[in-house]
Amino acid sequence: MDGNGRWAVNKGWPRLVGHRKGAERVKEIVRAAPDLGVRWLTIYAFSTENWKRSTKEVIGLMSLFASYIQREAEGLSREGVRMRFIGDRARLEPKLQELMGWIEARTRGNGRLNLTVAINYGGRDEITRAVQALARQAADGRLDPGAIDDECISAALDTHDLPDPDLVIRTSGEMRVSNFLPWQSAYAEFEFSPVLWPDFTPQVLAEIVDRFAGRERRFGAAQE
Ligand code: IPE
Ligand code: MG
Repeated sequence: MDGNGRWAVNKGWPRLVGHRKGAERVKEIVRAAPDLGVRWLTIYAFSTENWKRSTKEVIGLMSLFASYIQREAEGLSREGVRMRFIGDRARLEPKLQELMGWIEARTRGNGRLNLTVAINYGGRDEITRAVQALARQAADGRLDPGAIDDECISAALDTHDLPDPDLVIRTSGEMRVSNFLPWQSAYAEFEFSPVLWPDFTPQVLAEIVDRFAGRERRFGAAQE
């Protein structure tokens, strides 16, 4: 979800107004996704690099996450959304961590849409934490280093209970991945949209999903 800041600044408004509008778009996209055939949706809300932003923006984003969880809990439950989070929670406010755990537990029984929000997430950080966990098991004699395979690594990541993404979409015209699911997206298709996230409507998503459906995916095999 990129482009909130530019969207607001283009209109002469503070960046946080863009983030608030962006959160409204998340609601619409979440509501529209199941009807587009999307059962798994992972959104990148805050990266391990976003701490470099001003204190004001960081605090604003954190309080937006907390209020989103509180305000949307009822609606998400009603719409059959199961919510999860990936990323390192340890650096987040205890109150926010508590809300995250609370909504995960509350929506655990849902399955119409699996919504995952990446907060304080970075792919390299996730892999680093996984490697540390595996190394600890090996050092304790609970894991044979030779038995570490790609399934074992996937199982040690924050995304252990999610399928790998089929499609990764980056908005706002930037042509980079910025540390989002680098291990998991090894065979993903990519779409780069010029649309700023606050303008990213379900209609824009529908067009991208349509285009994706027309792509041929071979996963390394030769053409039939
Ligand atoms: C949203 O867009 C991404 C978040 C960190 C929430 P940006 O805040 O990166 O917007 P731009 O790139 O400055 O336009
Ligand atoms: Mg940006």
